[in-house]
Amino acid sequence: MSEIVNHIIQLVKSKFEHDPSGHDWFHIERVHRMAVYLHQKEGGELELIELAALLHDISDHKMNGGILNQGGIVASKILEELSYPAERIEKVKSIIDAVSFKGANVLDTMETIEGKIVQDADRLDAIGAIGIARAFSFGGNRNRAMYVPSENPEMHNSFEDYARSEGHTINHFYEKLLLLKDRLHTDTARKIGQQRHEFMENYLKQFYNEWNTENLIE
Ligand code: ADP
Ligand code: NI
Repeated sequence: MSEIVNHIIQLVKSKFEHDPSGHDWFHIERVHRMAVYLHQKEGGELELIELAALLHDISDHKMNGGILNQGGIVASKILEELSYPAERIEKVKSIIDAVSFKGANVLDTMETIEGKIVQDADRLDAIGAIGIARAFSFGGNRNRAMYVPSENPEMHNSFEDYARSEGHTINHFYEKLLLLKDRLHTDTARKIGQQRHEFMENYLKQFYNEWNTENLIE
């Protein structure tokens, strides 16, 4: 592991260690580990992948008072202070700028293999058993209901609308989590994602079955 990666690990760890909203250090650590794993299978430049994975949530709008698209700028400043080469900072910044999910009907493009890997790693951590746990802890942290049957999901057309939404957590599955499988880029991530996606579908089936008394499994 390079010296700068090591330095950034310490920095990000101290910043996120006590965040209860699903943006804890362990999320960053899992994304970093998954990104390194995907790199082994899919290629790309490892140091750029590691830096972007570690810094991808450094200034998320959900934690920074609502400023959208701030992460790349903050990450650049950190790397500039460490005298990291400008053209490499630009590459890390463009990954972080593009990494987030911005709404069901908002196109997300990722140009480079490094960016594809980091986005895949982040998205894999939003689905499956851990994704479910993160969604409910996020909802709880924001005092959101876990489910309100009369309130339907909304497919958002802009990042602003998506960022403003305050729906219950089951809606979040339809507005984001169940859409991620088809937005993964690499073959390796698609295989892992398929299994996690099916787990969420089964989870929802069980959830509705417990909620209703029709067709109750005894
Ligand atoms: P990521 O870190 O995967 O890019 P986000 O920063 O968008 O994801 O959100 C952090 C975590 O909180 C994710 O697991 C995400 O699915 C969850 N989350 C985001 N918005 C909501 C919401 N409105 N309701 C429930 N969970 C949410
Ligand atoms: Ni993330």
